[in-house]
Amino acid sequence: MKATAVACANIAFVKYWGHADRGSADSAKHLPANPSVSLNLDCLSTTTTVTQVEGSDQDTLTINGIAAGTAARERASRHLDRLRALAGTKGCMRVVSHNNFPTGAGMASSASAFAALTVAAAATLGLSLDERALSSIARLGSGSACRSIPTGFVEWTVEAGEQDSYAHSIAPPEHWGLCDCIAVVSAEHKHVGSIQGHEAAPSSFLHQARVEQAPARVETCRQAILDRDLEALGREMEEDAVAMHAVAMTARPPVYYWTPDTLRIMRAVVEWRAQGLPVYYTIDAGPNVHCLCEQGHRETVEHRLRSLPGVTQVLVACPGREAHLVPDHLD
Ligand code: PMV
Repeated sequence: MKATAVACANIAFVKYWGHADRGSADSAKHLPANPSVSLNLDCLSTTTTVTQVEGSDQDTLTINGIAAGTAARERASRHLDRLRALAGTKGCMRVVSHNNFPTGAGMASSASAFAALTVAAAATLGLSLDERALSSIARLGSGSACRSIPTGFVEWTVEAGEQDSYAHSIAPPEHWGLCDCIAVVSAEHKHVGSIQGHEAAPSSFLHQARVEQAPARVETCRQAILDRDLEALGREMEEDAVAMHAVAMTARPPVYYWTPDTLRIMRAVVEWRAQGLPVYYTIDAGPNVHCLCEQGHRETVEHRLRSLPGVTQVLVACPGREAHLVPDHLD
């Protein structure tokens, strides 16, 4: 059996940063400390083909034509174990994956990777899972991957005391012509991964305050998305991005994802806005800056970002759809 799935990366407007504190299993299960909201990004996607193989004693993983290292292969293998357990089988699998965004451009790919792997492996194993189940399982591979399963604008909820969590769609991609102009300032792999960032977050004296604010922020963002209100969405998004990075920078040990180039772009965006250009920024666990604007301002934002020193490339993404199966296989 063989199946291929495509999933988009996503950018969070309210970030997932830190795990719930309801027992030791929370971090392994990627139960988040706070709810989050994101947008799937159409031209940042992962395509993954999963094939069941006879007579092999280990899973294999190829990413963009290169055999993955042991750590990445074992992480994918652990994820396949979850799906194999559901299907009641043990057979090994060959996983071939391709990212359509520039590899090594410092863009987070674990969300699209684990969403595509979940959908493709479930189909290969003949599992019939609904969106909620797929989202829950994708979360176990990488927390933010649960938000790449549903379509368009997505919310990842947290229920008090629950041992499971998953994401659902707030609005489809065509609801709002937003653009994410991503100013790439570094192609390096991030030196501190989000896994360590989540672990360290509670050691910051700011963490609890940010977590307490998050439900109200998510509420405002959800309404702003429904109203297509960029000002309201942008304000919450920028504040939460800075709050998340403040938590990272005040954690023990501290993590500094920003570089001088990052800060230059943040300041430029605020200045452009003061001059009347509606654009807002957010930053994930790395130095690159995501600048959100409406379609009509995309060219201006793109052009201005390219003119800033330190910006090596600008990728532009529009709202993307749900993780889905496709008929054409990679191998
Ligand atoms: O899914 P992870 O463990 O890679 O964490 C994602 C963390 C952020 O990208 C910084 C925020 C988010 O909500 O996507």
